[in-house]
Amino acid sequence: MSDILSKQEIKELRKDFPILERTVYGLPLVYFDNAATAQKPLPVLDSIEKYYREYNANVHRGVHRLSQEATDAFEEARKKIAVFIDAKEEKEIIFTKGTTEAINLVASSFGKQFLHEGDSVLISAMEHHSNIVPWQIICEEKKAKLKVIPFNEAGELRMDEFDKLLDDTVKIVAVTYISNSLGTINPVEEIIAKAHAKNIPVLIDGAQATPHFPVSVQKLDADFMAFSAHKIYGPTGFGILYGKEAWLNKLPPYQGGGEMIKSVSFEKTIYNELPFKFEAGTPDISGAIAFGAAIDYINNIGIEKIHATENALLQYALQKMKALPQIRFIGEAKNRSGLISFLLGAAHPFDTGELLDKQGIAVRTGHHCCQPVMDIFNIPGTVRASFAFYNTEEEVDRMLKAIEKASKILL
Ligand code: ALA
Repeated sequence: MSDILSKQEIKELRKDFPILERTVYGLPLVYFDNAATAQKPLPVLDSIEKYYREYNANVHRGVHRLSQEATDAFEEARKKIAVFIDAKEEKEIIFTKGTTEAINLVASSFGKQFLHEGDSVLISAMEHHSNIVPWQIICEEKKAKLKVIPFNEAGELRMDEFDKLLDDTVKIVAVTYISNSLGTINPVEEIIAKAHAKNIPVLIDGAQATPHFPVSVQKLDADFMAFSAHKIYGPTGFGILYGKEAWLNKLPPYQGGGEMIKSVSFEKTIYNELPFKFEAGTPDISGAIAFGAAIDYINNIGIEKIHATENALLQYALQKMKALPQIRFIGEAKNRSGLISFLLGAAHPFDTGELLDKQGIAVRTGHHCCQPVMDIFNIPGTVRASFAFYNTEEEVDRMLKAIEKASKILL
């Protein structure tokens, strides 16, 4: 494990995030909702402004100077993203609106081509709605079955059940790397290896993993991976579908329009090559450029260092929270990352969240787009504190004080 950021280094880095300076209700903000979206550093904000002020033009469409500059910056971002996840080829990086659109693309295009009546899609019980509903839609259309890997009380996948469910009907496996509601890190290497032994491709939802530690799609041997820029200090509305070239070549386009074609006539359209086959319409140009700036920013710190720092803070928070008997943890996997889901006694998570908010602590409350997880635990939702490298032990201490105060009111 790498060194952690020193307190002084964190103090300096926080200056790059103007929003962390603000107050809420007259109190300094403690931002613990990073799993929902991370804050953006100045180089990311500046890159957006610079694009619109200095070289706003459409990409791949003009010979004029501005269009060339925009295209170069846009494609430079694709290169940075390919390196960030260790993709073999830049053309394996498809720009989307986010994780959700990336998964919808695969569910729709893969499903159209490869799912038939009697087939099944295997997901897990801890998936975000975005890795459930797109599969339900295509399964219904194709009369295929959606099968679900259960998890144990700690929130760890039942790999014994996975082995049983991975039968010959399964045409694709789609699982999250890290659960956004429980914090569990799933054994995706093992899942991929076992699926590949049966020639079944695997899609990884990397939305909660990519902000926290290095993810190499080549080492994992993932066939597809979806993730979002906004959780990695980049802008909202921009994300990535990684797909192995061979798979992407086999899938039909997801949307039709400009850019995804080589030639169009009323009789026949020839589709463009990768990655453009999946990028119909004018893309989010500033989104791509700003995500490139976010990746540069992370690389300057070092993702290993980010991981070690966040992990130390997670352990600090867990150890302090375990001393409070009124806290019930939801998700206690041995292998976990980034976040803590909990309840205060029998208090409703919204009430707890509101009382924390009034004390300046921003946490997410509710079902976190994982209603099946909440149903399994038989709870309406949880309170979720999720961390980034810019969070501090002092902020955790403030949350603990706020929890004690909320407990006095609610319990
Ligand atoms: N999927 C995001 C979250 O977990 C929005 O909060």
